[in-house]
This record gives sequence, C-alpha cells and structure tokens, in this order.
Amino acid sequence: MAKRTILTAPDPRLKAKGKDVDKVDGDIRRLIDDMLETMYAADGVGLAAVQIGVALNVVVMDIAQKEGKNDPQVFINPKILWASEETAKFEEGCLSVPDIWEEVTRHTAIRAQYLDRDGNQQVVEADGFLADCLQHEIDHLSGKLFIDHLSRLKRSMALKKLGKAKRQKELA
Ligand code: NI
Repeated sequence: MAKRTILTAPDPRLKAKGKDVDKVDGDIRRLIDDMLETMYAADGVGLAAVQIGVALNVVVMDIAQKEGKNDPQVFINPKILWASEETAKFEEGCLSVPDIWEEVTRHTAIRAQYLDRDGNQQVVEADGFLADCLQHEIDHLSGKLFIDHLSRLKRSMALKKLGKAKRQKELA
C-alpha cells in the first residue's frame, strides 16, 4: 500500500470526469488499498479516485470513524438510481477543500448501485449521513466539488480562504 497525494482546489484535475472501471482486478484493488490508506492518514470519511488524480469511478468511505470504529466501504462505478424528493442541509467538508465547512442541500435518502471489491453488483439504500457522503463522493466522479453547490459569493469566499491558507503554508 502507498499513501497518495490528495489534490486540492482549484487543481484542474479535480474537474476530470471519471471513467467506469471495466474489470475489478488486482490493479483496482491496489488502488482501493492506496485510497483507504490515504483517506485514513488524512482523517477523512470519504475519498474519490479523482482526488488523487486517477480519473476512474472508484470511491472509498468509512463513516463509522465518527464513532471511533473502522468499517471501510468501497463503491466502484456508483450510480444513483433513485433520490428522495425530500432534501435537507448537511454540513460538509472535503479533503480537497481543506478547512472549509459549509451547509449543502442534499436528498435525505438515495438508492444507488455499485460494484463491490469482488466486482459483484450491489444496491445500497442510504439515508442520513451515508446518503450525504455518497452524494458528495459521486459528485467528485463528475468533477463536482461541494463548494460548487454554494452561492457564487460563498464559493468565491471559500476559494479565497483556501488560496490564502495555501500561500501561508508555502511561506511557513
Ligand atoms: Ni470531497
């Protein structure tokens, strides 16, 4: 396993559209292991392959970390099949948009299909935090960040704050 570098906004590679994985083989499982290692090292709950510069539709997630547990989940080629009409605001952050937290409106429940680590087709019914995380990660696969859901003003403020933090880091 190897830790990879997480790209941060406004890196143009974060806007890449992911391709579906043709075959879940050893290379993909190695990618998944690298992504999990990278996500845990960064204290994140989710990571899309696009965020490490690999334009494939692969997502890893571990929402049990919130309760101090470990339950790694893998979603390959995830597609939303159904989304509730009901929406709610969720406070979100992103490893590619460090130290910015904003409320985003999401569907409160979704149904999605995906391939698991063994390449088997699965369907997940998700609500609450899992539904929020899945929508956030699936957005990454089409080059969309959570700040793209914000008003133009809030989005430009977030990018400004991010740029300032980056410059300070370079000077330090
Ligand atoms: Ni993210």
